[in-house]
Amino acid sequence: MNYTVSNFVIYLEKDYDEMSKRASSIFLQYLNKKKNGVYGFATGTTPEGLYKELIQEYKLGNISFKNITSFNLDEYFPMDPSSEHSYHHYMMEHLFNHVDMDKNKINVPKGNITDYEKFCHDYDMKIKENGGIHLQILGIGTNGHIGFNEPDDVFSKGTAKIKLAESTIKDNSIHFGNSENIPREAISMGIKSIMMCENILIMASGKRKSDAIYNMIYGNIEPQNPGSVLQLHKNVTVVVDEDAASKIIDKTKRI
Ligand code: GLP
Repeated sequence: MNYTVSNFVIYLEKDYDEMSKRASSIFLQYLNKKKNGVYGFATGTTPEGLYKELIQEYKLGNISFKNITSFNLDEYFPMDPSSEHSYHHYMMEHLFNHVDMDKNKINVPKGNITDYEKFCHDYDMKIKENGGIHLQILGIGTNGHIGFNEPDDVFSKGTAKIKLAESTIKDNSIHFGNSENIPREAISMGIKSIMMCENILIMASGKRKSDAIYNMIYGNIEPQNPGSVLQLHKNVTVVVDEDAASKIIDKTKRI
């Protein structure tokens, strides 16, 4: 089922698998319309199922990634791209190694550079030179972050090095064994970079995301609630499972 709540088109799915299938079919529609487009990818647990579905569609011959350019949202800092904990490694393992991506057209922020200010500036320029991002996939943090744009006093602008929130360090330390090993910083596309994407597909699954989804849709638009800025974007599709939607179901009574 899909619903429209203010500017959001919301697909409510039964569970994680259904959420992943729905996101995949939406991605497919975009990709088939713009086969040489620029696509923004996200990492984290949430899009893993989507990437599995996309690999399946590729194997069935329903899609090709050959002519697309990709930009990833973020990367830990410091982080070597060859590390198993890097988002570079994540993308290769979960998607790029299994489809016909042109490896020269893959862009993931680098977590091992010294001149990160230049790198961030060049990353934004490269997105611009490629004509901007046609479709950006997003997840959302339990604290409402998008990319690694944490709750803050101001909305961030372009790609930048940021400090991770304690709650994010706690949430993501599961991937690092313990919270001692996880980097305290990251390179992330900014809120402005995300808002400049033509279309956004944001996914969320599980009860732990229900507050973030509620706040994104109904919360005050403020930098302490980063996802809320999406209320100002014209083309946002939200794909959520019933658990992640549990608070908005109560609110609207329509869902
Ligand atoms: C991560 C990433 C985000 C992601 C979010 C949710 O740390 N930086 O891009 O959307 O936090 O992660 P998960 O999908 O694992 O819950």
